[in-house]
Amino acid sequence: MVRTELKVKAPEGTEIRESETLTQWDIPNLVFTVETDERGLSVHIHAVWVPSRLRGKGIGTAMLKALEEAVAQAGGGVIWGEAFPYTEGKGATYREVRELIRWWEKRGYEPQEDLSLLKDAYREQAKKWDMNPSEIQLGYDEVAHLTWFEKEIPETD
Ligand SMILES: CC(C)(COP(=O)(O)OP(=O)(O)OC[C@H]1O[C@@H](n2cnc3c(N)ncnc32)[C@H](O)[C@@H]1OP(=O)(O)O)[C@@H](O)C(=O)NCCC(=O)NCCS
Repeated sequence: MVRTELKVKAPEGTEIRESETLTQWDIPNLVFTVETDERGLSVHIHAVWVPSRLRGKGIGTAMLKALEEAVAQAGGGVIWGEAFPYTEGKGATYREVRELIRWWEKRGYEPQEDLSLLKDAYREQAKKWDMNPSEIQLGYDEVAHLTWFEKEIPETD
């Protein structure tokens, strides 16, 4: 893998950065890193964040589109990441994770693992703790390897 730069024009009122950390939570952010491999650019999304008051207006989708366009113009490649909702360390229920996976799927990002494994992870934990599976909250480290997705981005002509 070779580190590369990618210039992305952020939609108005949003910030798109190549970085590992989110520092500004009051404006919509998309944070990624980009490398190259045999398929072209390999773009890892670390975070997509839209402040709650601005959600449901197409901002998250617009930031992804801007990133996809930049990747296509830079020769194409793959955008990937892990679907996990921000819950301030409280973990997330199966339903919350599944809903977020659907959000990504609707935008063309395909889950790379059999999603029945995700359900099994929640069931197993529920059994251990003698709880209802729908009440179980698992952390990023426990499920992210089961929720990763990717989308291939062809080069624009
Ligand atoms: C996931 C997230 C980035 C989506 O951003 P957004 O700008 O609200 O999304 P869009 O408006 O582009 O997409 C609209 C979809 O969001 C859903 N939505 C609407 N209001 C919402 C709300 N208040 N909260 C969450 N999702 C909402 C809509 O149902 C719509 O779904 P549809 O595509 O089935 O119609 C945003 O909810 C967010 O920042 N969540 C917290 C951070 C997080 O968990 N990020 C995911 C990391 S993988």
